[in-house]
Amino acid sequence: MTKRIRVGVLAGGASAERQISLATGLQIAEHLPKARYDVVLMDPLALMAGNRHLSAEQRAHAKALADRSGRVDPLTERDRRELPAEFLRQIERAAEALVPVTSAIVPSAGEAPIDVAFIALHGPWGEDGTLQGLLEILGIPYVGSGVLASALAMDKVMAKRILAEAGLDVPRGAVVTRAGHARSPAAAGEAARAVGYPVFVKPVRQGSSLGATLVERPDGLAAAVDDALAYDDRALIEERLAGTELTVGVVGGDDDLFALPVIEIVTERTFFDYKAKYDPSASQEICPARVPDDVARRAQDVALEAHRALGCADLSRTDMILRGARMTVLEVNTIPGMTANSLLPKSARVAGVPFAELLERLIRSAMDRTGR
Ligand SMILES: Nc1ncnc2c1ncn2[C@@H]1O[C@H](COP(=O)(O)OP(=O)(O)OP(=O)(O)O)[C@@H](O)[C@H]1O
Ligand SMILES: [Mg+2]
Repeated sequence: MTKRIRVGVLAGGASAERQISLATGLQIAEHLPKARYDVVLMDPLALMAGNRHLSAEQRAHAKALADRSGRVDPLTERDRRELPAEFLRQIERAAEALVPVTSAIVPSAGEAPIDVAFIALHGPWGEDGTLQGLLEILGIPYVGSGVLASALAMDKVMAKRILAEAGLDVPRGAVVTRAGHARSPAAAGEAARAVGYPVFVKPVRQGSSLGATLVERPDGLAAAVDDALAYDDRALIEERLAGTELTVGVVGGDDDLFALPVIEIVTERTFFDYKAKYDPSASQEICPARVPDDVARRAQDVALEAHRALGCADLSRTDMILRGARMTVLEVNTIPGMTANSLLPKSARVAGVPFAELLERLIRSAMDRTGR
């Protein structure tokens, strides 16, 4: 029997998407066939007990993880309110199974090192190139985009510049910084007027629609900007694009890159917000999308072009809005949701690739790239 591949599934972390990441990590760990993979679920939050960007509460949590000195409630109030029960159970189970990254990535005597990392983290310190940099330093192969592409895609301002330069359509918008906003709060109002109401306000670097608000009228702007700035030190004020929301996954290496079937998102909520994303009753994700074939092909070409323009690797998911002839890219996710029911895995299934096979392909691709 060939040696099993030791996979470190990195989940948890310190971003606002910690809980989502835990559920994703657990599902990845559970779907990788035991015969071929020896999976360890590990939490990089354990490295961050001294990180001053974190709250005192997060640092205490990090410390408890690092020295395995106690259990911290993995659920926030928002999760209890907005996530379905099954999702909550998965988060709790993942939290039970976590080991601190300190021992799994840099093994102490007697512990086996991992062969490859599967990053199941979203947002800052996971999807933004920083963790990728740590893995580069340690020489550990990992699934997904490298440092530069991860950092570019996470930063919606930089990503839009690159995408526009590649000839893709992106939303018009302006940026408000936390410091600038504190100095002159009226500037956000002027920026929004110049963009034209309704506007869409969101943090520059965040995911899961956290801190995102549709603002219909000027009196709603201040609260929306404050909410976005609670997640990042820059907020985007964008033209609100009304139309059909589409998202397209891309998988593969440089030589065999392909776009998955297009998904159409329909929600009763005002936009595809946190609840709509994680509560299956709050939105419909239709795959293949109900658009003509030529439009679907165009959406796939846009996703491939966006993936290549940013220099992504292994996988990405490009979110866009279609209105008339205009197909506008909202953003590119380098670590899209990867639960079995998330968008990219769902469209892979439609393309005939079951979840476990998708995970195996991604791992193989990561290990091939690094020549192991
Ligand atoms: N300019 C815009 N006009 C209209 N709707 C928008 C706009 N920007 C974002 N949205 C809505 O908000 C949702 C979240 O936006 P976006 O995908 O940019 O952020 P995110 O939080 O990084 O998402 P993800 O969870 O995919 O990482 C979109 O799916 C869309 O429904
Ligand atoms: Mg998105």
